Amino acid sequence: MRVLAFSTSSNAESINGHLVNMAVAQLQNQHDGSVQVDTLDMNDYELPLYTQAREGESGIPDKAVEFYHKIGAADALIIGLPEHNGYYPAVYKNLFDWTSRHDMQFYQNKPTLLLATSPGPSGAANVLGAAVASAPFFAMDVKGSMSIPSFYEAVDTEQRVFVDSQANIQLADLLQQLND
Ligand SMILES: Cc1cc2nc3c(=O)[nH]c(=O)nc-3n(C[C@H](O)[C@H](O)[C@H](O)COP(=O)(O)O)c2cc1C
Repeated sequence: MRVLAFSTSSNAESINGHLVNMAVAQLQNQHDGSVQVDTLDMNDYELPLYTQAREGESGIPDKAVEFYHKIGAADALIIGLPEHNGYYPAVYKNLFDWTSRHDMQFYQNKPTLLLATSPGPSGAANVLGAAVASAPFFAMDVKGSMSIPSFYEAVDTEQRVFVDSQANIQLADLLQQLND
């Protein structure tokens, strides 16, 4: 199984990246370490701001096409969704826009687990809801989603587990569904 796992954040200490890493570790446990994991750093995907004029002049940036092919090479996706003012961080929205111009169905029906967290009580539920609601337009096959409010209280960052054991079970169950 080959998984593309990334946070849509460019923060070096991304809490959504932490969540993605926890999920990847659990997935490896479920598969005896046999999962091939590819990851992305949004700092490598800071593209010129999408405009129709730029697309007309220069076409689609290579990095957006590369992103598309990385999705295509994966059997499943695990995506961490930080929330900036209710939506995706600008770096990802821009990558999203460019990639959608290459192929609007750019998630290519890959089974996907969406994770979202924030330090506050909302748990980035707005961006998660937006991603789930729009998934069919972009051929994202959402197998499961999980919002984790109050990250710093909810996660034991040293042990890399949720404080609430039910949340650990929920994540394990969602990861199982990536195979279905
Ligand atoms: C510009 C900006 C807007 C934000 N808007 C929200 C928001 O709408 N909802 C929320 O829960 N947190 C919001 N936050 C706080 C983020 O949840 C917090 O920065 C979190 O660490 C982002 O996730 P990351 O560490 O994975 O990048 C915002 C942060 C920034 C910098």
